[in-house]
Amino acid sequence: MRYPILSSLLLATQAYANLSPRPQHLILDSDSSDPLIKLHKELVEHQSISANEHNVAKYLIAYLRRQNFTVETQDVGPLKSSTDPPRENILAYVGKSRKTRVLVSSHIDTVPPFWPYERRGDEIWGRGSVDAKGSVATQIIAVEELMAEGKIEEGDVALLFVVGEEVGGDGMKKANDLGLTWESAIFGEPTELKLASGHKGIASVNLKAKGQAGHSGYPELGKSANAMLIPALNALLNVELPSSEKYGNTTLNIGRVDGGVAANVIAEDAIAKIAIRIAAGGPDAVRKIVTETVKMVDEDIEVISNGGYGPVYIDSDVPGFESMTVNYGTDIPNLKGDHKRYLYGPGTILVAHSDHEHLKVADLEAAVKGYKALIEHALR
Ligand SMILES: *[C@@H]1O[C@H](CO)[C@@H](O)[C@H](O)[C@H]1NC(C)=O
Ligand SMILES: *[C@@H]1O[C@H](CO)[C@@H](O)[C@H](O)[C@H]1NC(C)=O
Ligand SMILES: [Zn+2]
Repeated sequence: MRYPILSSLLLATQAYANLSPRPQHLILDSDSSDPLIKLHKELVEHQSISANEHNVAKYLIAYLRRQNFTVETQDVGPLKSSTDPPRENILAYVGKSRKTRVLVSSHIDTVPPFWPYERRGDEIWGRGSVDAKGSVATQIIAVEELMAEGKIEEGDVALLFVVGEEVGGDGMKKANDLGLTWESAIFGEPTELKLASGHKGIASVNLKAKGQAGHSGYPELGKSANAMLIPALNALLNVELPSSEKYGNTTLNIGRVDGGVAANVIAEDAIAKIAIRIAAGGPDAVRKIVTETVKMVDEDIEVISNGGYGPVYIDSDVPGFESMTVNYGTDIPNLKGDHKRYLYGPGTILVAHSDHEHLKVADLEAAVKGYKALIEHALR
């Protein structure tokens, strides 16, 4: 699950990573012999905040090779600075056939800050425990079990684990260069063990105001960029945006506002960063409404748009699963092709990205069964 504006938080990664852990609960890890719990634990224990996925990738590559998968890596390149560690997507399959009918995929990066793995009774806490290492671990175990049961063979299923989902999807976009197509792709994100039938679209908009600096005692000598932005933002809070029965309301989040340099200086520059979750229509229509609303308040505010997409349809025609719509973005629109697409995984988005991210052991176990059923459905 991605928030579009998190890239600015990446700089804080190192500081966050050094936070001291929460008090440990004294519960012995009696499940270290369970391959699912062990894999999930080791994935969560490898900090992999976007841009820093290399350690968990190395762990996962070694794990998958030990399980006799053929493993390819795909270099994605640094997110920011070329001195950062390498970043790679991981493609794993049975035998020699990299071309498979079904793709099973999730992401190995997480949002900051890092929270250590912690077992609390029948719950597992920690950054990524839900989003999306719960999906990664259960997808792998599902494929292993289907192999062991003789239900899949070479050419049936490939696993793809990508970097950068939380920061714009550079990993999945790169996966389009693998030269592969599939009949079905099963994406792993927290859906509370339901099949998502669609997710909202997204548009990002920045407002930029340019004023004139001056002494705060003589406001008539300057022009405050902050004072320009405030009424425009207020107008946006009250603007009506498209809605639909399936996805509900389009919502608008003013996620970041920066302006001025000091209390006694008229602000020369101000910027607001806005994410819009689109429930109907495309990003262009929503941006047009936003632009017109802002310009009606102040012609001089610049409106800068960055990409985006409308609501994303997802297949959910599998017997035995409940379905739901979700408000978050995924890598689904980043993978080109006319494959059927499914979205499923353990845990709830309502705790993802939070300081209390956690799920139940039983959710992991249920997700293994769910992924097995989805893979078998897709191969039928
Ligand atoms: C991997 O293959 C080797 C050689 O065929 C075999 O001995 C080993 O048991 C396999 N490992 C797993 C986890 O299937
Ligand atoms: C959508 O917005 C309307 C008007 O603000 C509100 O009454 C309604 O409850 C909202 N619908 C949802 C699904 O949030
Ligand atoms: Zn996610």
